[in-house]
Amino acid sequence: MRREKFSEWIFKRFPIDLQKISEMWEKVFVKEPIPEHMKNWFFALGATPLVLFVFQAITGILLTLYYVPSPDRAYESVRYITEEVKFGFWIRGLHRWGSNLMVIAVILHIVRVFFTKGYKAPRELNWIIGSFLLIITLTFCFTGYSLIYNQLSYWATTVGTNMIGEIPFVGKFLLLLIRGGIDVTHNSLIRLYNLHIGLLPTLMVVMIVLHIVLVRLHGVSKVYPDEPTYSFYPEHFYTVLQIMLFLLVALSTLTIVFPPGIGEPADPNNTPLHIKPEWYFFAVYSVLKILPLKFGIWFMFFVLLVFIFWPFIDEILLRRVKMKPSLHYIVGIAVILIFLFFTVYETIKY
Ligand code: HEM
Repeated sequence: MRREKFSEWIFKRFPIDLQKISEMWEKVFVKEPIPEHMKNWFFALGATPLVLFVFQAITGILLTLYYVPSPDRAYESVRYITEEVKFGFWIRGLHRWGSNLMVIAVILHIVRVFFTKGYKAPRELNWIIGSFLLIITLTFCFTGYSLIYNQLSYWATTVGTNMIGEIPFVGKFLLLLIRGGIDVTHNSLIRLYNLHIGLLPTLMVVMIVLHIVLVRLHGVSKVYPDEPTYSFYPEHFYTVLQIMLFLLVALSTLTIVFPPGIGEPADPNNTPLHIKPEWYFFAVYSVLKILPLKFGIWFMFFVLLVFIFWPFIDEILLRRVKMKPSLHYIVGIAVILIFLFFTVYETIKY
């Protein structure tokens, strides 16, 4: 009897139609027509958070080998990773700088999609999925920061979760759910850790898959009417590869030049003079400090809803407002200036 080839053996046990799958792969990915403007890195920025997320997943898994999610050991385990584990400071630095670059990349990607009107019909749903990706990215950063368990991160977590408690309707419930009680305790750390390494990565993967599938099904929107196109493979794939290599070099350089510190261990009985969140929350934090807290939270909730449903609001406004073509430019530039103003203001304040 002829010895069966291994591939034949496998396909008998896993009877899929390879021909059909390879045709679909050719059509949807390899030959996918990409508009010419995507050769410019700024326009292809969607790939950047994708690549960074993969880096975050790899470095995050390595960090879990030594991190201990318990109030008495969390800080010490972070110190151990940073100072004693071989290449620990590098892995931690890649993860920490990666989270910062991921926020910057997502913001730049939103800016490009917004100014090129990439959210217009039929891509409104993908904008909404993108909004969830932004929320998930920021929640990743918030929960990750809380795990260090030093003074700054402990108090930023306390203040941050207090603010969550003020969210209309569901705030009190969310506060108890996240903290696992009234105060930030052992329960809170376990819950934040589980969110960070379990629920959020799962949601992120599901949302990214939906997002990319929709991008592929609609194709990337054209910026100019008769724009020529090129294939996804190899040109666009190489652009993504270049971005990936550049990021790896940039992240490693940042880690070596500015290695992540560990600060003072958390002391729940000693509130520091200045409690500050990470820079990407400065604008929200500043606005919430200026406005009465309840009103501020409602205001932020309103801004979030406007952001999520912007494609529909833009449609309605365009039918009513006179300065039609420049409307989204005015809104976009105003939001960027407000964000930059408060971020710089909070940075130089102390
Ligand atoms: C983890 C975060 C994200 C990843 C990995 C991601 C990935 C991508 C990729 C690969 C594309 C293809 C075009 C390109 O490279 O620019 C894209 C397009 C798009 N993204 Fe994202 N994205 C993310 C977040 C967001 C956010 C926060 C929004 C908006 C709120 C958004 C809205 C869109 C829209 C509407 C398109 C279609 C644009 C067009 O066809 O011109 N994305 N995204």
